[in-house]
Amino acid sequence: MFQTLKAQPADKILSLMQTYKADDRDTKIDLGVGVYKDASGNTPVMRAVKEAERRLVADQTTKAYVGLAGDPAFADAMIELLLADALPREHIAAIATPGGTGAIRQALEMVKLAAPDATVWISAPTWPNHPSIIKYLGMKMREYRYFDEDTRGVDFDGMIADLSTVAEGDIVLLHGCCHNPTGANPTADQWDTIIQTLQAAKAVPLVDVAYQGFGDGLEEDAQATRKIAAAFANVMIAASCSKNFGIYRERTGILMGIARDETEAKMTQANLNFLNRQNYSFPPDHGARVVTTILNDPALRADWEAELEETRNTMLGLRKQLADELRRLTNDDRFDFIADHRGMFSRLGTSEDKVETLRADHAIYMVSDSRMNIAGLNEKTVPILAKAIVDAGI
Ligand code: LMR
Repeated sequence: MFQTLKAQPADKILSLMQTYKADDRDTKIDLGVGVYKDASGNTPVMRAVKEAERRLVADQTTKAYVGLAGDPAFADAMIELLLADALPREHIAAIATPGGTGAIRQALEMVKLAAPDATVWISAPTWPNHPSIIKYLGMKMREYRYFDEDTRGVDFDGMIADLSTVAEGDIVLLHGCCHNPTGANPTADQWDTIIQTLQAAKAVPLVDVAYQGFGDGLEEDAQATRKIAAAFANVMIAASCSKNFGIYRERTGILMGIARDETEAKMTQANLNFLNRQNYSFPPDHGARVVTTILNDPALRADWEAELEETRNTMLGLRKQLADELRRLTNDDRFDFIADHRGMFSRLGTSEDKVETLRADHAIYMVSDSRMNIAGLNEKTVPILAKAIVDAGI
């Protein structure tokens, strides 16, 4: 049977991880995969996570199954974190999923159940795994314009023009904050126009929130998602705890389904539970329990928020340092967008050839579309990157 297998397309982020590992230059700089690194290049376990795990190990008395949707306390805590009181809790169905990717996958499976002919619209560009999963599931897909290659900001007119053509019932995948891979995000006013456009088109938003707390703050980063959740009859929200809790390998995420009323929410919940059962049965519990412990304990939560804020401020500082350094070296403000972008990534906006030059000549690794992980930098490597960008003629 296996003799019929063909090679699958490589994921450019994951293959870059391999190439980086194999490079033996000790000056190499990894700006590839989206993992937070501190000034010494480590991805630490957050203090609150360590403490919550310590309590779990000490107090947990069973590892028996929890439930198909995961622990209801996890759903409550995550809904409160992301949606606050944007809409009644009874209108929200939710399942725990293996990471944010699991939530995206289950959201798309939900579309296959509820609206199999719908087209899924993705931003151009988007996280490469979005189109990869959509294609794998055999779903219809289209792109809407998003990124302005000249300004490195949002191509808002293009975005709105394309979203106006979305058909009734189509799914529109939006990044709730910290757009991956560009780092460019709509303003609050622009979000209002996006919402009005999608309402007029009678579209169904699917919001991917993988970086809450990495942009402007936990509350600030949730604003667009809250508005969307309150503005449509049906919305799906895929949220990840990988980055903001730093628990990448624990695979902790959640899919929320916003329904029109309680009855519809119950039917949505039953279908979400069914999908979990079909795909992996019970979702992973450890990371979810750690997150719930932190969010429900005021002291742990305060400590987590403080550490997350340090993380965010570090990234903002690196953004500013890099933009300043490039302005100094080029005597030009064309790289100022790096300081305006938010989240872990910025798209430099250069050719694959130049990205390759940075790798070959300077041992600097970024994704081929010129996405850089800002958190892969530190105060000492920022000037090295800036000089390499100038030397490469970018
Ligand atoms: C990324 O975009 O680098 C992260 O979301 C990690 C991944 O799975 O691609």
